Amino acid sequence: MAIGETLAALSSSKTLILKPSPSPTTSSSSTRSLRHWIPCFSRHHPSLATSSSAAAAAAAEARRSMVEAFDPTIPLAEALTPPSMWYIDSSFLALEFDRVFFRGWRAVGYTEQVAKPHDFFAGRLGNVEFVICRDANGNLRAFHNVCRHHASLLTFGSGQKSCFECPYHGWTYGLDGVLLKATRISGIKNFNKNNFGLKSINVGTWGPFVLVNLDQKILNQQDITEDIVGKEWLGSASNLLSTNGIDTSLKHVSRREYTIECNWKVFCDNYLDGGYHVPYAHKGLASGLELNSYETLMFEKVSVQRCESASVEQDSFDRLGSKAIYAFVYPNFMINRYGPWMDTNLAIPLGPTKCQVIFDYFLDPSLADDKAFIERSLEDSERVQIEDIALCEGVQRGLESPAYDSGRYAPSVEMAMHHFHSLLHASLVDT
Ligand code: FES
Ligand SMILES: [Fe+2]
Repeated sequence: MAIGETLAALSSSKTLILKPSPSPTTSSSSTRSLRHWIPCFSRHHPSLATSSSAAAAAAAEARRSMVEAFDPTIPLAEALTPPSMWYIDSSFLALEFDRVFFRGWRAVGYTEQVAKPHDFFAGRLGNVEFVICRDANGNLRAFHNVCRHHASLLTFGSGQKSCFECPYHGWTYGLDGVLLKATRISGIKNFNKNNFGLKSINVGTWGPFVLVNLDQKILNQQDITEDIVGKEWLGSASNLLSTNGIDTSLKHVSRREYTIECNWKVFCDNYLDGGYHVPYAHKGLASGLELNSYETLMFEKVSVQRCESASVEQDSFDRLGSKAIYAFVYPNFMINRYGPWMDTNLAIPLGPTKCQVIFDYFLDPSLADDKAFIERSLEDSERVQIEDIALCEGVQRGLESPAYDSGRYAPSVEMAMHHFHSLLHASLVDT
């Protein structure tokens, strides 16, 4: 059995049998990893302990060998790109959720979505369903969007609410997570409403962005300052970004969502090739950029590509200088700042070969009422996205072909892509 098949079999048996029993006192059971559930399973099924521990060892070995198939110590000019398995295998994606997405600060939205008391939006990252809201006192909150009665999702989409009423049996929670009403529970014993509030998630902001941290124990909300989030999320790049127009002065004008038949990293790789594909794949865009001026700066968890722009609008927004900035924030968030615009791209894995990319467009407020200008700009952007989607889906099919395992980097332009792969390797490797 191939590595992928072994792990796929394990993953499916986990889904059917091995869900950890719920505990009112455990706040992060939804983020448990393979390594947590195998010992738990073995304890409850001693007759299977030997075979399950052998399977666990085989799975760990398979994971290790997939991760180590990429060697970040090889210099860029000689390096091979990660093997196809990184882009295809479901157990590799499970490892990425565990080690990458469920650790550290991860962008999930923008502050305008929760600007006023009672604003909320819901989302999903892997198997984590979350809801972010601003409570009646103006405090930003985040919870697992899961009813404590029988696990129904509580709410969907975005908007305003004064409380979360479960659509299934009507249990009702405050925007501070407290269980306000448990319907028709007369006769229930050993039940304390105070122990059945929504489970909290760490939430913070940096500039115009909302982030969650699914890894750390629940922190005191007062301790999650913008400064701390910025340092942990962006490291030494935070200053460069905030002084180059990535701030709260812009107004959100549009959101577009794309479902793409490719691994989430294929989209990121396409973003990180230093403009390499632009003259071939975006002929319209190439005429508006000085591709010779492309430069790439690398920080701890961020890479920034900069390029001179020939766009007309740029001239009237010279506080940014003439350069467009394309910042990639590890692992899956991209911030593009050019002229009066900022757009962000959030790549969310939906499966090993499928992702969703959410584009949010922000504009200088002086142009926010110019509908014709906005429409024209969004159409131009849409054309580029459609070209990129075709590229990404083509790459995914190539990655699944037996003809390909790994490739090479163009050293003068693809350094940010290598940086991304090296960061992933560091997150995934067993320590
Ligand atoms: S699942 Fe929410 S009230 Fe029953
Ligand atoms: Fe592109």
